[in-house]
Amino acid sequence: MTLKASLLCSTPQEREALLANLASLPGVQVNAHVGSARTLLSVMQDDQPDLVLLDLPLADEAAFEQIEAASLRLPGVLVMLVSPDPSMDLFRRAMRAGVRNILPAPLGPDTVRRAVEELQESQSIGSRFAEHKARLLAFLPAMGGAGSTFLAGNLGYNLAAGGKKVLLIDLNLHFGNLAAYVSDQKPASSILEIARRSRRLDSALLASSVLRARDNLHVLAAPELPQQAELLTPEVLQDIIGQVRSEYDFVILDVGRTLDPMGLAALELADLVYLVVQLTLPAVHNTQRIAATLQGHDFAQGKFKLVVNRYLKQSLIRLDEVERITKTKVERTVPGNFEAVMASINQGVPLQMLSPRDAVARALQEWKNDLSPVVVKQSRNWFAGLTGLL
Ligand SMILES: Nc1ncnc2c1ncn2[C@@H]1O[C@H](COP(=O)(O)OP(=O)(O)OP(=O)(O)O)[C@@H](O)[C@H]1O
Ligand SMILES: [Mg+2]
Repeated sequence: MTLKASLLCSTPQEREALLANLASLPGVQVNAHVGSARTLLSVMQDDQPDLVLLDLPLADEAAFEQIEAASLRLPGVLVMLVSPDPSMDLFRRAMRAGVRNILPAPLGPDTVRRAVEELQESQSIGSRFAEHKARLLAFLPAMGGAGSTFLAGNLGYNLAAGGKKVLLIDLNLHFGNLAAYVSDQKPASSILEIARRSRRLDSALLASSVLRARDNLHVLAAPELPQQAELLTPEVLQDIIGQVRSEYDFVILDVGRTLDPMGLAALELADLVYLVVQLTLPAVHNTQRIAATLQGHDFAQGKFKLVVNRYLKQSLIRLDEVERITKTKVERTVPGNFEAVMASINQGVPLQMLSPRDAVARALQEWKNDLSPVVVKQSRNWFAGLTGLL
């Protein structure tokens, strides 16, 4: 995409000299004019540039008012000034007028190059933020006590311990307790508080409503009491997810067992749904019923994965049987360890922290690695790397 830069030189001589010396910049179309702050707005309207570089030998209040009016009218254009006196006072006034930067006079080819580089940098940062979108994982127990909340909380903790920014959302509006699986603090707010104020949901409101289990592991907890649970409609949930997706790397939803419109909306929004099951006949039967119910909806193929919790290799119910009956793939198995898991839940301390060598903790860590592989940085100097002489 070609960038457009408009230059406003203060004299015809300056414009001539600049054009004579300005080598063409790849991907940039330059329009050079003679003008001042007074003509800034009309140049911006005519050229529709991405960047304006305005030579301003005399920076008086009238000029700033004109610059401010122009940048208010067309806020998408990056305005930079060229000044013989880039003092701090001038800088402050310019910032208030919506100016991005002040470069030292004269307005020459180097100044133009620098301004264009700054524009390109800001665009690439902007697009990085715009593209940032959390992966949304949902956990759904096939039966009460399947281990869905335990797995959701602990997987979230492991992802956060690996450096990802993670948000856990408890959608069990009736007595959900996901926060207690990863923290011993009591949540001061809940997802219903956010739902109540969803019209003005922004980063600040979100930041004040989450419980911080650790720096990069946040929890939007269930309410203490389920009054007004109806505030969280599918539409409100969609708005909340839209906001949090740009702020986290992973968002994990503990959906609970009720497939009401809100639960279905959560599954709809998720990139991946883990259906947590234990290998008992009633649980497999339930999984079959859930899978059949979900097949009636228009979900993306392969979105649902089975996670067999407390898995015993000698189980009489085989994994391929479960896959066949439920028409859903077994993504992974997690072994059982009653004592270790109970200790973690009762202390509100994630298993990885409490017993990292435990088989359940190791399964969770493998799961985390599959979702967010560990990047091994290679030493530039392999010999120094081997000898430790870095
Ligand atoms: N891998 C495991 N090994 C041993 N015990 C486990 C394991 N996973 C979960 N449990 C136990 O199962 C119990 C239920 O777990 P959890 O609360 O996560 O289930 P749930 O699927 O969220 O159930 P609910 O329907 O009540 O929300 C917990 O008390 C926990 O001790
Ligand atoms: Mg639960």
